[in-house]
Amino acid sequence: MRIIEVNLDKDPYKVLYTDIQQGIQTIQPESIDGSKIAIISDEDAANNNLDSLRKALNSYKIQTIEIILSPGEKNKELMVVESIIDKLLSKKFERGDLIIGLGGGVIGDLSGFVAGVVHRGVKFINIPTTLLAQVDSSIGGKTGVNTKYGKNLIGCFKQPELVVCDINSLSTLPKRDLLAGYSELVKHALIGDAELFNFLQNNVKNIFNDYTILQEAIHRSALVKADIIMEDIHEKNIRAQLNLGHTYGHAIESFYKYDGRLLHGEAISIGIIMAFKTSLRLGLCMSDHLHIVEDHFNKVGLLTSLKNLNGEKISPEKIIDLMRSDKKVTNGSINLVLPREIGSVEIRNDVDENIILDVLHETLSH
Ligand SMILES: NC(=O)c1ccc[n+]([C@@H]2O[C@H](COP(=O)([O-])OP(=O)(O)OC[C@H]3O[C@@H](n4cnc5c(N)ncnc54)[C@H](O)[C@@H]3O)[C@@H](O)[C@H]2O)c1
Repeated sequence: MRIIEVNLDKDPYKVLYTDIQQGIQTIQPESIDGSKIAIISDEDAANNNLDSLRKALNSYKIQTIEIILSPGEKNKELMVVESIIDKLLSKKFERGDLIIGLGGGVIGDLSGFVAGVVHRGVKFINIPTTLLAQVDSSIGGKTGVNTKYGKNLIGCFKQPELVVCDINSLSTLPKRDLLAGYSELVKHALIGDAELFNFLQNNVKNIFNDYTILQEAIHRSALVKADIIMEDIHEKNIRAQLNLGHTYGHAIESFYKYDGRLLHGEAISIGIIMAFKTSLRLGLCMSDHLHIVEDHFNKVGLLTSLKNLNGEKISPEKIIDLMRSDKKVTNGSINLVLPREIGSVEIRNDVDENIILDVLHETLSH
């Protein structure tokens, strides 16, 4: 079993790459102090994985509460948080009890947030069932919900006790979601592991068909994230590198109101390309790097630019407005993570807005 040890001073935990049953059975019964486990999931993740989790929990002889939502980003809302907490409290869920999130990044962010606030914090285990969640959102403890002012503007840091990543759960994931997760996997390579990017280039044809290759890529990509958060858990400095592609990406995503027309990861591949184009205009990176990454995204089928989606004309001026309201703005300046080359980035908050607008005009109208 592959393991990543996330060695935080406070709240260290392990990320296990194994099947759900084996992963859950690493929990020592005596470490469960409460009398209930709440499983929070969505229908798609539950249909394909809940039975394995139920079997794994059987041996603990503990009462379980199952809360299964309909899928979608719309779940990341305070009203949904309140309704989950109501349900938990009505079932006498207590301070020592445990929450397990079973699903993609939406369920992880939502259930982690509930675990962070109910009774001022209860134990939390994350079982990520999408590629995006296995390489990215399940590690690092960021949880939260969206507001009409932007994504993830309400939330807390809540580290899990354990993360169990079962690659087999990806076999039922729609190709579109698999690809969306792949953009975050590549993002980690672009930030800090040029060799991983070479590995992805060499295996681009088989990456989604051969689970030995995909597992290797997931593990190495997750390691980049784990290494960064171990250095800077609260995003005081280098953790912000993980936002490569996100200032542009979040703004485009929020333009489409999270209604499924554009997935988070799809917005991120476009955002990464925009970050490269910004770097190029600033003379920070070479055009070869932009073209290599663009070509890689095209080969796997990820978006690199955006025309109108379903007839809604996307306006660069509106996008720059949304970028100004992103939580990554400090003192009114837009923070951008900009590539220097493949495997290295820098954080800048001094980019002329005319350059950003120029990049938006070029990328959104092609
Ligand atoms: N906390 C963080 O650090 C962090 C990092 C990156 C992204 N995120 C967040 O993650 C979210 C996106 O996550 P996502 O892409 O996993 O989306 P998601 O959770 O919506 O999952 C995508 C779809 O796949 C379905 N699904 C999940 N597991 C499945 C399975 N095994 N088989 C079949 N279908 C399955 C879901 O029901 C959903 O319809 C966004 O809200 C984003 O903001 C958080």
